[in-house]
Amino acid sequence: MKTKWIEQARELDQNDPIAFTRQWFVHSSENLIYLDGNSLGRLPKVTADRLQQEIQETWGTRLIRSWNEGWYTQSATTGGKIAELIGAKSDEVVVTDSTSQNLFKLAWAAVSARPGRKVIVSDTLNFPSDLYILQGIMYQLGPDYSLRLIPSKDGMTVSDEDIKTALSDDVALVVLSHVTFKSAFMYDMKNVTKQVHDSGALILWDLSHAAGAVLIDLNGSDADLAVGCTYKYLNGGPGSPAFLYVRKELQDHLTPPVWGWFGDARPFDFNLVYKPATGIRKFTVGTPPVLSLAAVDASVDLLVTTGMEKLRKKSLLQSEFLIEMWKEVLLPLGFTLGSPENPDQRGSHISFRHPEAYAICQALIAGVDGGPVIIPDFREPDHIRIGITPLYTTFEDLAVAVLKMSEIVNRQLFLSFRQRSGDVT
Ligand SMILES: Cc1ncc(COP(=O)(O)O)c(C=O)c1O
Repeated sequence: MKTKWIEQARELDQNDPIAFTRQWFVHSSENLIYLDGNSLGRLPKVTADRLQQEIQETWGTRLIRSWNEGWYTQSATTGGKIAELIGAKSDEVVVTDSTSQNLFKLAWAAVSARPGRKVIVSDTLNFPSDLYILQGIMYQLGPDYSLRLIPSKDGMTVSDEDIKTALSDDVALVVLSHVTFKSAFMYDMKNVTKQVHDSGALILWDLSHAAGAVLIDLNGSDADLAVGCTYKYLNGGPGSPAFLYVRKELQDHLTPPVWGWFGDARPFDFNLVYKPATGIRKFTVGTPPVLSLAAVDASVDLLVTTGMEKLRKKSLLQSEFLIEMWKEVLLPLGFTLGSPENPDQRGSHISFRHPEAYAICQALIAGVDGGPVIIPDFREPDHIRIGITPLYTTFEDLAVAVLKMSEIVNRQLFLSFRQRSGDVT
């Protein structure tokens, strides 16, 4: 059985038209299989070079002059590149702050733009930090405001019917992750946006698990607002700044809650009274982290060059392959599939659920029995997430990982890995 899957994987790798992009990344060890690009993408070689250049030349030599030689406009320039990946116009996206901060700014602005409507809708599959931000907004706006969460009946998906039930004429804003962080369930952005607009509310999409992973058409879906991180599939590096999107027609009508000099019309006039910039810059606040921003700029080029169509095609082939393997190899061992089988509803990771998920994950990371070190991630209570990053994940990586999971369970190798350790899973 083992040879069959490995052979099939190798054949798929040989026929992969974008297999060459794997060489764009730093691979520190041939004995490491990295399946966590959905949390922190690998380091692109071009990023390492770009950061050296930024440090030695742009900062070291050009010093303060660099602000007029690219730094000041970098947030917008890189935003314009990300716009290409998410179906937006270049002047609708900017790279700034963190996803959480951007969510706060845009959600607050949206609720303020719908006076009289006092409900925000989200779902129970959403990333908890998003819900915390929304709870904080409700707390500050007062007891008349509330957050309504759409439940997921199967813990994996949300139906159109459930969305419909949650919408009423008191809803100001709907906030959803386009691809949810545990199950990788993907909403139909166009349909949901229409439903929300029909109810008179605005919509804000969190694209953290979607940008660089699936096909997104913000403009074609008539989406109002979006936020997303750059350290997952965009490979921008740990803590790299996030992006935000505001539909062009809305930009002049929304007022962000945080007014800083980078969002002012003329920051270097140093006026004592704030006057908002026109356009997307209004939604920025202060000095951007230019080194991290340079890293994002370099890595996003790799996705733009490759093209999202090719990436999505490979990602789907890879998740289908994983599901095929699950049926034959993992299902008999008590693993259930925690992601939708329908490819139209699936992002770019697969969640396998098992009562011993934590210990199995730890055993994979430890590289038991001299096997390769395999890095997926664990999400409470029982999810092993296998992140597929088509720029560098091979079919063989996936086959080896699944076969190792089966070995770990068959031989009960997980037993010595049950002890919880470390703050970050
Ligand atoms: C879907 C989603 N939203 C929001 C966040 C929070 O991002 P940040 O910590 O960069 O603000 C994350 C972090 O992983 C996420 O996955």
